[in-house]
Amino acid sequence: MQTLAADAVAPWDTWREREALQQPSYPDGQALTDVTTALRRQPPLVFAGEVDDLRAWMGAAGRGDAFVLTGGDCAETFAHNTADHLRLKIQTLLQMAVVLTYGASLPVVKIGRIAGQYAKPRSSETETRDGLTLPSYRGDAVNSHEFTPEARIPDPRRLMETYHHASATLNLIRAFTKGGYADLRLVHHWNRGFTQNPAYSRFESLAEEIHRAVKFMEAAGADFDSLREVDLYSSHEALLLEYESAMTRIDSRTGDAYDTSGHFLWVGERTRELDGAHVELLTRVRNPVGVKLGPTTTREQLVGLIDRLNPDGEPGRLTFITRMGAERIREALPPLLEAAKADGRPVTWTTDPMHGNTITSSTGYKTRRFETVMDEVRGFFAAHEQVGTVPGGIHVELTGDDVTEVVGGAERLDDESLTRRYESLVDPRLNHQQSLELAFLVAELLR
Ligand code: TRP
Ligand code: MN
Repeated sequence: MQTLAADAVAPWDTWREREALQQPSYPDGQALTDVTTALRRQPPLVFAGEVDDLRAWMGAAGRGDAFVLTGGDCAETFAHNTADHLRLKIQTLLQMAVVLTYGASLPVVKIGRIAGQYAKPRSSETETRDGLTLPSYRGDAVNSHEFTPEARIPDPRRLMETYHHASATLNLIRAFTKGGYADLRLVHHWNRGFTQNPAYSRFESLAEEIHRAVKFMEAAGADFDSLREVDLYSSHEALLLEYESAMTRIDSRTGDAYDTSGHFLWVGERTRELDGAHVELLTRVRNPVGVKLGPTTTREQLVGLIDRLNPDGEPGRLTFITRMGAERIREALPPLLEAAKADGRPVTWTTDPMHGNTITSSTGYKTRRFETVMDEVRGFFAAHEQVGTVPGGIHVELTGDDVTEVVGGAERLDDESLTRRYESLVDPRLNHQQSLELAFLVAELLR
């Protein structure tokens, strides 16, 4: 990977001429320049070869030859970036992946919303509490959640902290996924613990089937490295353009630009304007990219996004992550699937069944209903079935911890229980058990 000279204008800097929504206003411009200059000299966090592999996998998922599991926090925080939290999150993703691999009889592409998901778009520039108005919290990459004037000032030095947290997280991921901890047999053993809980007894027979398959492989002497290791890719919303462009490097083999802050990058529903800065930056990099699509997306916008982000129709390059809401997906998604089908250039479709289904509990918490989330997943499969397109994967907000943020599920968390352990600073996440329950339910749908 090559580093540009400090004063060179990068070919991917064309976003600077476009309108950039959702950017922090840094009071100290010199500090920002200092940080981005330093970031440009840091080693890449991910490597071109890995990014190319993931692009190929995303292409396979678009054809129905693989299934994508993306999961992780709405917003990662520096404080929760501990070995324990990360381990439980990785463990949860792997446990879900085993179940889905079995259910789909397909390779599962494992992607974390991890090692970079530190910045959030906000609906309002400011937040007011008891008459005091301060800048909104935009994620630990930008400012602090604490409600004081000092804490809320966007601080560019946090971009360097972001880099270091991402780097440490990726180091841990590489150790866990290559060091025996991701062994299929071990992960399956954890799943058996889960189905032994009476609340999940309905999944026991599926777990038992997986158990027999594992035993069969063992009896047959199958002992390949592939059972012991996994590839776990990183992803986040490419929101902070100064950070993303400072992390972009030229691959010395091909001369192509890669955003090395993560393997997969997406733009949100709020920043996906065709002529906006976010889409512009992603047109310049070789990473597989995603775009979140809400229920008001038009066919013209969809085809426009393909024109901008995947003009040559390269498989795996472009993923649409739909977040329609359970109530609307069955009517809003099919026309978009039809439009993409008519266009003919390949896209990969995944469902984000979280963001269209956020409600406020009677106890005043921002929450989601497990059953509504599952209903959107069902609607996603139904829409693809109807149009004859491929449901390529799921994208969920989850944590490995035993939090109480989403209501419902077999443990029947109710509005009262939200007060017990609500830790998310932004959106409510499936807890460890709810994540596994979702994986089992989706596995049943995939069979
Ligand atoms: N390497 C294979 C894969 O990633 C099999 C595998 C090993 C696996 N450990 C796993 C699958 C843990 C899911 C979870 O698919
Ligand atoms: Mn979110």
